[in-house]
Amino acid sequence: MAKEDEIAYLSRAGAGSAEHAAAKPFSDPQCGMYLVRIGTLMALLPPPPARVLDLGCGTGWTSLFFARAGYEVVGADIAPDMIRLANELRDREGLANASFVVSDYEALTFHNEFDAVVFFHSLHHADDEGLALRKAFAALKPGGVLLADEPGVGHAASENSLEAVAKFGVTEKDLPPAHLVELGRAAGFEAFRVFPCAESLAKVVYTGRAEPLPDPFADTGPAAERLHRTGLRRTCDRVLSRLRPTPAWRLTNVDHLLLHIHADGLVLMRKGAHSARAAA
Ligand SMILES: C[S@@+](CC[C@H](N)C(=O)[O-])C[C@H]1O[C@@H](n2cnc3c(N)ncnc32)[C@H](O)[C@@H]1O
Repeated sequence: MAKEDEIAYLSRAGAGSAEHAAAKPFSDPQCGMYLVRIGTLMALLPPPPARVLDLGCGTGWTSLFFARAGYEVVGADIAPDMIRLANELRDREGLANASFVVSDYEALTFHNEFDAVVFFHSLHHADDEGLALRKAFAALKPGGVLLADEPGVGHAASENSLEAVAKFGVTEKDLPPAHLVELGRAAGFEAFRVFPCAESLAKVVYTGRAEPLPDPFADTGPAAERLHRTGLRRTCDRVLSRLRPTPAWRLTNVDHLLLHIHADGLVLMRKGAHSARAAA
C-alpha cells in the first residue's frame, strides 16, 4: 500500500503540514541548508532555458526556483493535493514556464524530452528506485543529466523516518550514491560524478557542527568494498589531493566527509550523447 500512503500523506499529516509544505523552504528551520542544497543543484544544471523534469516535486518549491531562474520546468508528483498546491503557487507568481502533473515516477511516459531530471528528497520514497531511474533515463534527451540529492546511509533508521513509516505508512530508504551509481549504470547512464553532500559540507565548513563520521578506509566491510567497486575511491583521492595543501581547513572533518561520499552525497549521471537505448 505504499503508493496509496504516499498519496494520502498530506491529508493525514495534520494541521499545519500543508502550510509548511507550501511555504518551503522558508517555513523550515533548516531553510539555510535547503538553500545551500538547491544552490548546488542549480550550479550543476545545464544553463537556462534548459527543460527540467522535477520528480517527486511535492508542492513544487524546487520547480519554482528553477522556473524563476529561466528554466522550462515540469514538476511531477504522485499526490494530487501536492500538485494542486504547486499549481496555486505557480499561478500566484505567474510563472508560465512551470507546469505540474500528477504522475508516478515509476510509470513515466516521457521520451527524449528533457535536458535534466532532478530527484530532490523524493526517490527514497520509491517502491522500485531502479525502475524510476530507467523511466528518468527514457525521459532525458541524449546527453541529458540526472541529479539525485537523496538521503544516504542511516536515513531509514533515523527517528523521523521510523515515525513517518509507523504513522503514515510512507516508504523511507537509504539511497547511498554507491547504490544509485549501480542502478544508474544498469538503467543505461554512461558517466557519473558524486559530489559531497552540500549540506554536510556547509555544516563542517561554516558552522563547525559536523556529525562525527566513520572513516570508510578503516572499514573492511561492505562499505569499503562498495567504495572500491563503484570507483568512488578514485574520486575521494582526487578531491583530497586538492584539499590537503590548505592547512586552514578543518582537515579531519572535511577528510572524513569526502571519504564518506559512498554513503551520502549528490549524484550526477549523464545519458550518452548517442544513446538510443529505450527504457525497460
Ligand atoms: C519528502 S517529499 C519531497 C517533496 C519535494 N521534493 C520537497 O523537497 O519538498 C517526497 C515527495 O515524493 C512524492 N512521491 C512519493 N512517491 C512517488 C512516486 N512514486 N512518484 C512521484 N512522486 C512520488 C511524494 O508525494 C512527496 O511529495
